[in-house]
Amino acid sequence: MTRSVTVLGSTGSIGVSTLSLFEESGAEIEMLALTAGRNVARLAEQALRWRPRIAVIDDEGGLAELRERLAGSGIETAAGSAAVADVAGQGADWVMSAIVGAAGLAPTLAAARAGSTIALANKESLVCAGPALIDISRAAGGQVIPVDSEHSAIFQVLQPGCADRVARLILTASGGPFRTWSREAMESASPEQAVAHPNWSMGAKISIDSATMMNKGLEMVEASYLFATPAERIEVLVHPQSVIHSMVEYVDGSTLAQLGPPDMRSPIACAFAWPDRLPWPAPRLDLAALGQLTFEEPDPERFPAIGLAREALKRGGNAPAAMNAANEVAVAAFLDRRIGFLDIAAAVAETLDRMNGDEGLSGGASGDALENAIMTDGSARRVAAEVLEGFGRRQMARN
Ligand SMILES: NC(=O)c1ccc[n+]([C@@H]2O[C@H](COP(=O)([O-])OP(=O)(O)OC[C@H]3O[C@@H](n4cnc5c(N)ncnc54)[C@H](OP(=O)(O)O)[C@@H]3O)[C@@H](O)[C@H]2O)c1
Repeated sequence: MTRSVTVLGSTGSIGVSTLSLFEESGAEIEMLALTAGRNVARLAEQALRWRPRIAVIDDEGGLAELRERLAGSGIETAAGSAAVADVAGQGADWVMSAIVGAAGLAPTLAAARAGSTIALANKESLVCAGPALIDISRAAGGQVIPVDSEHSAIFQVLQPGCADRVARLILTASGGPFRTWSREAMESASPEQAVAHPNWSMGAKISIDSATMMNKGLEMVEASYLFATPAERIEVLVHPQSVIHSMVEYVDGSTLAQLGPPDMRSPIACAFAWPDRLPWPAPRLDLAALGQLTFEEPDPERFPAIGLAREALKRGGNAPAAMNAANEVAVAAFLDRRIGFLDIAAAVAETLDRMNGDEGLSGGASGDALENAIMTDGSARRVAAEVLEGFGRRQMARN
């Protein structure tokens, strides 16, 4: 059966993997919309191949070039964040949510309101407003299927109706590029070193999050919201080979794991076909060639982001949203070389400290959970920018 599809963030790492999966599997789809941030050339090229009804660029300055590149194709064009959210809400059967950062929240919510099946890669929207997003999607008759490999693994091995029989969710982590680095070496790590992930090829922001292990912190929050599991029952285990994508331990001591090569097209295929399986020439695991799988505890001294996320999750309310916002601002500052690598987690910690007592952090004054989460996101960005000014002065002195 042909399904209508929208890919939000089609020009990014997940977006490109999604289109590559469609290409390789020959999945029967009708492309409704493709959206991008700034990469007009790639968006136009994708649009000419996939023939969506509309191609949307968030950056309004790119519209003229997009129109020119698609002239005569019959493909509609639009620009701006409102247009991205508008096409996201047009009721495609399946929407890939793969915009990076909190910018993905409004379009993902629009897709949820329209009752689409959402393949959710954009973890920041879940961390920022997970409970509201899931409720809105359910109420509209849609569903949210995780694409993050860890949550896809848990989704696949979590037996329906057994949530109260789960002892622990165990999120595996590669450990990132600095797994074996000393704290002193990490202090002077460059953006180029931090984005060079050993196993996965990903966008810059999530690569930095993997290096700080804030990615695992965000994933703890995601797991808690998606699988209604408290922080105390979610653990992180470093597994450098990235073959076991996560595990569920049940109360009888049995542990179920999902394995696969580190290729995001696998969890995307799962989210596309679920509960069926999509036949495609997927890379296969060769366990004999791998020989061994290893595991270790994460080091809380070098990777404080995991502890910060656990605290934010325990605190509840909008603390995870504030943490996410502060992290986005700090990662952008690191990529701009305004702060050092270890300053990222330190800036998040200080932002959360300074926001102690902030009404929004504990849930907000008004009754609208979503509005409160968005307001907290905004205040955390302002506080983080102030915190970073001080950190930036320190970095200039270091240079
Ligand atoms: N990559 C992975 O393996 C992976 C795994 C698990 C989860 N995720 C999550 O998936 C999401 C996407 O990650 P990614 O690695 O694919 O990121 P990416 O390569 O940086 O791609 C991000 C996409 O979002 C678009 N975009 C950026 N800012 C935008 C804005 N303000 N409005 C609209 N579109 C915007 C980009 O467009 P342009 O490129 O045209 O500017 C691009 O299409 C993230 O939330 C990430 O945490 C990624």
